[in-house]
Amino acid sequence: MIEKKLKNKIMLTQGPQKHFLESYIFFRLRPSSLSSSVLQSILKFWTSSLLLQGQVAVITGGGGAIGFGIAKQLLTAGAVVVISDIDNSRLQKVHSLLAEIHDEIRVERIAFDVTDYQAVEKGFAEISRRLGGIDIVVPNAGIALVAKIEDLNPNKLDHVIAVKLK
Ligand SMILES: NC(=O)c1ccc[n+]([C@@H]2O[C@H](COP(=O)([O-])OP(=O)(O)OC[C@H]3O[C@@H](n4cnc5c(N)ncnc54)[C@H](O)[C@@H]3O)[C@@H](O)[C@H]2O)c1
Repeated sequence: MIEKKLKNKIMLTQGPQKHFLESYIFFRLRPSSLSSSVLQSILKFWTSSLLLQGQVAVITGGGGAIGFGIAKQLLTAGAVVVISDIDNSRLQKVHSLLAEIHDEIRVERIAFDVTDYQAVEKGFAEISRRLGGIDIVVPNAGIALVAKIEDLNPNKLDHVIAVKLK
């Protein structure tokens, strides 16, 4: 299982980190060749050399397609990622996909509506309490409204603007 996760990581990794991961897998598959403390050091060195290691990133609209892609990139760069969305089932699906590819421990989820100021405040406070702060926010939540200009419903348009900008 761990080998599968690391192999997925290698596919997403470039440069010197790729070599570290490859050597980690090589020795992991041959446990007699290296002690576990050496294996741990290799992994520790690899994670500590990542650009966003130790940073906490929150992505709104994290249950969507682009949110998933952003989360993957931030996780690959070493961040702890919190995906948030109004839709709990989408959130759960994306969360389990990400946890399969990356360390489960670095992916969290929280549901709130970005147009609800109090819910956002509560959500951010909860994340800060759990993870010790927030370093990066990606305001990605959005909805598409496709209609002819003469058919646009002003309330729906206000809602689109509220989700995207409020
Ligand atoms: N896909 C495109 O071609 C495209 C093009 C330009 C801009 N965008 C923008 O990029 C962002 C992501 O797009 P996507 O393609 O991943 O869309 P998507 O529909 O897959 O994801 C958007 C997510 O936002 C969530 N969301 C909607 N209202 C919310 C609210 N009130 N509070 C919290 N979450 C809410 C939805 O549940 C959904 O999971 C959106 O802002 C979109 O407008 C997308």
